[in-house]
Amino acid sequence: MESMIVDCDPGVDDAIAIILAHDLAILKGVTTVSGNVPIEATTRNALQVIALLDADIQVCKGAARPLKNPPVHSNHVHGTDGLGGAGLLKNTRSPSHVDAVDFLLETPTRDDWIVAIGPLTNLAQAIERDPTWVSRIKGISIMGGSTGYGNVTSAAEFNIYSDPEAAARVFECGARIRMCGLNLTHQFQVTEVFLRALAQAEGDLAQFAEPMLRFLLGRMEELTGRRSAALHDPCAVLAATHPQLFEFENLSVRIELAGTLTRGMTVCDQRTTRRRDFPNTEVAQSIDVGKAMPLLLNTLCKNERK
Ligand code: RIB
Ligand code: CA
Repeated sequence: MESMIVDCDPGVDDAIAIILAHDLAILKGVTTVSGNVPIEATTRNALQVIALLDADIQVCKGAARPLKNPPVHSNHVHGTDGLGGAGLLKNTRSPSHVDAVDFLLETPTRDDWIVAIGPLTNLAQAIERDPTWVSRIKGISIMGGSTGYGNVTSAAEFNIYSDPEAAARVFECGARIRMCGLNLTHQFQVTEVFLRALAQAEGDLAQFAEPMLRFLLGRMEELTGRRSAALHDPCAVLAATHPQLFEFENLSVRIELAGTLTRGMTVCDQRTTRRRDFPNTEVAQSIDVGKAMPLLLNTLCKNERK
């Protein structure tokens, strides 16, 4: 069983990813970053999910803003609280006294994945403080970027767009990197069919997830006209726990920092010539949805805790 630390900005899909990581891996800790909603809310939401799991897992608060950009949020997708209303449930847990960067630097071993599913500010600060860190982790599984179109702009995906300087530092750091970009995560869509299966389950995970995903589905219908939502962040967990469900391509991925139209773009060198840049990333190009989606549904419909 893989082990991991999840760095996140809950966020509806982050919350689902944390639940999936807790079920399919050894979840050694959760670190939070400003992203979908401000840091206080992402931290509260992460605590909410850990309380729901009744797990003895630290939640360590991280960066309140990107390295250079002002903070960017996605309340229009995830709701004011960040969890489609589920973040407002009572929760008595408090974050660890250890901050996210210290936790990231001190906790992992060479067996541990860092699953990064929000802006990469915490990871960049860890690398800046101790560049040898990358040799003390197994790798970094990132939800971020895209081999094609973006979502915040036509070129840039939210997690990379939010903190391009941090993303550049991470993609250049020399660690083993797996990237699940929008080109991949848009293959992993939930619809009413998935929600109906959740609604029939009686466990509290399903009862927590169903209304939250129903909220997300509604927001995506307003934004796109289609009642379907990509579950981005769980893909980065599965890329670490079930790589056999993916097709990866080793590519050079670099971050555009200067482009007027393209700042925050993951520039993936997909040229077929020998001249293409040296690969630094295992880029996920496809996922076996027929096997991956039942894995997620099974986790969310479980009654018992690990
Ligand atoms: O672009 C999708 C990513 O941005 C996901 O991680 C989602 O949670 C948001 O953070
Ligand atoms: Ca996220």
